Amino acid sequence: MTLHLVDDHDAATACVTTLVSSAIRATPSLVLGLPTGRTPMGLYRALRTAGLDWSRVRTFNLDEFSTLGPEHPGSFRAFMDEHLFRHVNLAPASIGFLRGDAADGAAECARYDAAIAAAGGIDLLLVGLGGNGHIGFNEPGESLRADTHVVALHESTRRANAERFAGDWQAVPASALTMGMRQVLSARRVVMMATGASKAEAVAAMLDGPLTTRCPASWLQTHPDVTFVLDRAAVSARRAG
Ligand code: F6R
Repeated sequence: MTLHLVDDHDAATACVTTLVSSAIRATPSLVLGLPTGRTPMGLYRALRTAGLDWSRVRTFNLDEFSTLGPEHPGSFRAFMDEHLFRHVNLAPASIGFLRGDAADGAAECARYDAAIAAAGGIDLLLVGLGGNGHIGFNEPGESLRADTHVVALHESTRRANAERFAGDWQAVPASALTMGMRQVLSARRVVMMATGASKAEAVAAMLDGPLTTRCPASWLQTHPDVTFVLDRAAVSARRAG
């Protein structure tokens, strides 16, 4: 495991921008797994102007809200179009995304796992961290699922996503489709970015706690090639400092 401890959010963004840019330059046909959320917004802004050739890159996003089609402004697909996809020369056919509005959620999840496998697996997976320790939308609980699946979202997760739903957390769909722990842990390399004091408890559990379904991100401790990019506020609850 590699830990990059940096001063603040901007420094974390710069660090991850360098990691992703180097990976795309080294492997122009990189298969890249991507998160949405507040954490990677600056990253996507920086990647837009990094002079990268995306023409052979393939992407797979971690998750999508159930019921929402790609045109819905609250969908993760719309987020990605707005923040990255429409600004770079990524081929539309190379964008892998779960369809939240699929009639058969289980079949859609199986299709996604098959698409990832057909692409040869994920080379570099970027992930964010939920304040409750979730990764993708693998929520804390009694158990975790290996494959891509439909999941009920915790109220805290819906509240954290209310911004794109006019601040109304109850307008955030109650369920989502998400890559499972197998997809996360079988990516050849994982880069986890977390910043800010609101992530501090989850970061401490992720890095120093036991492997537990109560903190899905703790399973990253088992990954053979994981890089954590964290700022000082995010590590403030670690006993070791
Ligand atoms: C989103 C995702 C989530 C977020 C996490 C952190 O695609 O997979 O796990 O990465 O909820 O969200 P932010 O960055 O908004 O704090």
